[in-house]
Amino acid sequence: MAKIFISTALPYANGPCHLGHLRSTYIPADIYARYNRMIGNDVLMVGATDEHGTPIAVRADQEGCEPIDVSTRYHDLILEDIKSCDISFDSFTRTTDEKHYKIAQDYFKYLYDEGLIYEETIQQLYCENCGKFLPDRYVEGTCKFCGADARGDHCEACGRALEPTELLEPHCLTCGNTPVIKDSTQYFFKLSSFQKTIEDYIANNESLPANVKNYAENWLKEGLKDWIMTRDMKWGIPVPIEGAKGKIIYVWGEAFLGYISSAAQWSEKSGKPWEEYWNDYVIHFIGKDIIYHHSIFWPAMLAGHGCKLPDNIFAGEFLSLEGRKMSTSKNWVVWVADFVKNYESDLLRYYLTVNAPLNKDTDFSWDDFQRRINDELADVIGNFLHRTFTFTHKFFDGKIPEYKNPSEDDLAFEKAIKELPDKAGTLIADMKFREGLVEIIKTAKAGNKYFNDQEPWKAVKEDMQKAANCLYLSNQLCHSLAILLKPYIPNKADEICEIIGIDEATNWNDAKEFLETGHEINKAKPLFKKIEDETIAKEKEELYKNLDASDVEDKEESDEDKSNKKSKQDKKSKKDKKAKKEDNGDKMDLISIDEFAKVEIRIGEIVEAEKIEKSDKLLKTQINIGEKTIQVVAGLAKRYAPEDLVGRKVPVVTNLKPAKLFGTLSEGMIMATESAALLTPDDCEVGELLM
Ligand code: 2FM
Ligand code: ZN
Repeated sequence: MAKIFISTALPYANGPCHLGHLRSTYIPADIYARYNRMIGNDVLMVGATDEHGTPIAVRADQEGCEPIDVSTRYHDLILEDIKSCDISFDSFTRTTDEKHYKIAQDYFKYLYDEGLIYEETIQQLYCENCGKFLPDRYVEGTCKFCGADARGDHCEACGRALEPTELLEPHCLTCGNTPVIKDSTQYFFKLSSFQKTIEDYIANNESLPANVKNYAENWLKEGLKDWIMTRDMKWGIPVPIEGAKGKIIYVWGEAFLGYISSAAQWSEKSGKPWEEYWNDYVIHFIGKDIIYHHSIFWPAMLAGHGCKLPDNIFAGEFLSLEGRKMSTSKNWVVWVADFVKNYESDLLRYYLTVNAPLNKDTDFSWDDFQRRINDELADVIGNFLHRTFTFTHKFFDGKIPEYKNPSEDDLAFEKAIKELPDKAGTLIADMKFREGLVEIIKTAKAGNKYFNDQEPWKAVKEDMQKAANCLYLSNQLCHSLAILLKPYIPNKADEICEIIGIDEATNWNDAKEFLETGHEINKAKPLFKKIEDETIAKEKEELYKNLDASDVEDKEESDEDKSNKKSKQDKKSKKDKKAKKEDNGDKMDLISIDEFAKVEIRIGEIVEAEKIEKSDKLLKTQINIGEKTIQVVAGLAKRYAPEDLVGRKVPVVTNLKPAKLFGTLSEGMIMATESAALLTPDDCEVGELLM
């Protein structure tokens, strides 16, 4: 039995949870935790809210309250969100907790005493009117890279990290005054001295997923620079060093210790030492935006302290919403609290897991959500459970019938049921949560096919044993589903257990045991209701209300080169045509089959992909289309890293006139959606022509 320390990135307590938080971090961590508990590992799963940092302080200033009021409000909301989605934390605390202050200060002091934190005087922005330094978001101005409005720490438009002193035309966020530059002594962590340690850590850690490894290696290539560890502001944990009055520990210098302080609080209550878990196996679940912090900065801080480094770091990629980047400021977001008012949280857990592997960016779309819930959860799983249970009651008095003289079909199905726990389990253990779930759905699909093929409704009249075998095995799969679905959709799994008449699932391997003949099940009840079209239409209407005309422009204006301008014009003319079409009935703009037949589309395999310099949208790809390899420039860079594309099959238009895009020859076009999502013709052969 292993002891496993699982942590989830600490969300800033300045807003409630949205679907992105769940998808990248909480749901995968919870599936992993629940699965491990079910196979008998001892799990300690910890989290907390991150209550410090300038955004919270700035917000409090704006609201005329104290930062603690803001962070308490959101801590409570976040906790509600987490509970509503059944994320099974053993400890969920906050970084304003006394214990956290002490642990963070002791840690800082230790590194300082070891000579790993040193003082240096640097230039900072200072507002003479407010009488304070202006770290991070306390100052706004113009981005020196792209000319957009930017905050002191970050430019949202071009995504670059900034230093406040790099802003052009800076002004104090509180009073609008132009700040002056003033000397200030700050404390720096000697990150540069950990270059070799971190290189070895990244190179020798076999478990780190590719996205984390690649990202860390890229940073390491640039050479690690020392990290500023302090700020001149009031809100935060005071720097525990004499002479550092008025300074606090930078939020990134203490937030990580939230993992430990949360665990330490759990230890106090449970009497069990958290260190045993850390020292056995520790895994951090995070969003991809903080890979740098977790793969480089935090391991260096740990190494400086002589602690064991994390065994694994799992970084979930981003979730967009209806093809657009989520934006809380534009309200282009679905809040967890709103979602769970209308739908069971298990539906969300299901959808966000099955939608895409976590190491790929993906999109939440209401239509796709409806489709998957209706076609998969309701039609595949729900239908299989329901028909099995109702049939058992109708023809076998609600009791598991006897299994005798199995046919070939029976034996094949029995084998599939018996293999499922290990197949799905291995995938979950390997962090392939989606694949594990897909395996379960696939088996339920096979169950429906088996049920149809056996036609028990006929067999009860002609060959009772055939019907009995069918219902015996179908009930065994239901039993298995009740257990194996538990990490994914815990409430539904419990409901299935209740119908089957067994205790809630706690042991994964129970799925390998078969129910005995004669075991009595309870009455069936509908488990998955289909989501109506009107419900989805309402959701979309609500969401799209938040999108004003300027947002539509924004999306199109971000296109960057001629080809895109052209495609914009095309899109516009398509839009115009569509509007016209709607005005004129349905007669216009139809193309004949002959016109369509002129377009040659083949299945190609991407064999090489690389970035095009100065373009953050375009990639240069080499595509094998069967008889030859062609070069295609495609606008996929915002969604896919070049290495993710190699080996993927895609439909390609192969008879376009060659053109130069960004100075690069393009001999075809990869077919993708408007939001640059690839179509995946997995079952086709390279070179195959589309009809
Ligand atoms: O990026 C964030 O949302 C940070 N609050 C994450 C902190 S994770 C860790 F350091 F605790
Ligand atoms: Zn000011």
